[in-house]
Amino acid sequence: MIDFNRPHFTGRELKYIQQAVVDNHKISGNGLFTKQCQRFFEEKYGFKKCLLTTSCTDALEMAAILCDIQPGDEVIVPSYTFVSSALAFVRAGAKIVFADSMERNPDIDAGKIEELITSRTKAIVPVHYAGVACDMDRIMEIAERYGLIVVEDAAQSIDSFYKGRPLGSIGHLAAFSFHETKNIISGEGGLLAINDERFIRRAEIIWEKGTNRAEFFRGEVNKYGWCDTGSSFLPSEVIAAFLWAQLEDMTAIQDKRKALWMQYFNLLKPLADKGFFRLPDIPDYATNNAHMFYLVCNSIEERSALIKCLKENDIQAVFHYLSLHSSPFYRDKHDGRSLPYCDLFADCLVRLPMYYDLTETDVDRVCHQIGSFFKIDGRC
Ligand SMILES: Cc1ncc(COP(=O)(O)O)c(C=O)c1O
Repeated sequence: MIDFNRPHFTGRELKYIQQAVVDNHKISGNGLFTKQCQRFFEEKYGFKKCLLTTSCTDALEMAAILCDIQPGDEVIVPSYTFVSSALAFVRAGAKIVFADSMERNPDIDAGKIEELITSRTKAIVPVHYAGVACDMDRIMEIAERYGLIVVEDAAQSIDSFYKGRPLGSIGHLAAFSFHETKNIISGEGGLLAINDERFIRRAEIIWEKGTNRAEFFRGEVNKYGWCDTGSSFLPSEVIAAFLWAQLEDMTAIQDKRKALWMQYFNLLKPLADKGFFRLPDIPDYATNNAHMFYLVCNSIEERSALIKCLKENDIQAVFHYLSLHSSPFYRDKHDGRSLPYCDLFADCLVRLPMYYDLTETDVDRVCHQIGSFFKIDGRC
């Protein structure tokens, strides 16, 4: 069986966890490994301040608190995304105004954001789908003109760039995921990147259950107490130690994934040129971090048949998001606009196996099977 995803271990995770437990005598949060991971991101990507979290969802919830969302405030979110991009703001009381994807790729259509802005709009949440950048210059220009906060949902975007700038460094705030399906993993895990300095102090307090404990441990105050809202957003040192083992191997992990991605692209291009499906589109302003390899089929029927055929041949391929604007939880609250490109990707996109330990032979086999499926008119 070729799985859709298999978590990769560098081999040093247990050593570092043992170091946290035995040498550092610290397994609760905000210890040496947490600080080391946070510094890694601040130095490598120029994020002003980083805080590890227990998930990207948690980092988004922190962002929603920092945006000071009040009931009735509006937040613009693409409908083609994971639930958390919207849920974090809904929990803070926001109304979500869903935006459509572009025709060329699932990212938010920056050209259609301005028409969604009202006097209640507080924030925009661009999601860099598959680690491919949204058009951030246009989004930041609109946000500046209307005084809005931009929260990059960079869950899939580690080590990817927009016009040479790291994703996660452009918006006021950004959230990353280290869930086991991502390029760099810690099982569950996330990171809040804070690029606008006005949010830093409050973010640290929200992170530590509404207390100024981080300032206390730095010796900046002589006691700590309850200052604000918050939660227990910080992960234990066990998670951070695991993550450090992964971060050390980031270059090797990225290089291997990119090689597999290119292999898929080159083998499948002749079929895409014949019109059987579309391949991922990477705009000139964006890089590819090889988080995902997907195809866009010509219909939902063809996609279902392809997934079934691959499964029958021991290859696990999967579709992705369902449109959030027509989800059972939100359809009654959505304003009724149709979002055709979001629906197109919800119906027709299929993700192929992609992980560090996938082999070139595996990729050959997946592509060969896709080739035979289309050459006999979509039958298995
Ligand atoms: C775009 C996007 N945002 C947020 C999340 C949530 O990440 P986590 O599982 O780390 O909470 C995901 C998860 O895959 C995602 O794809």
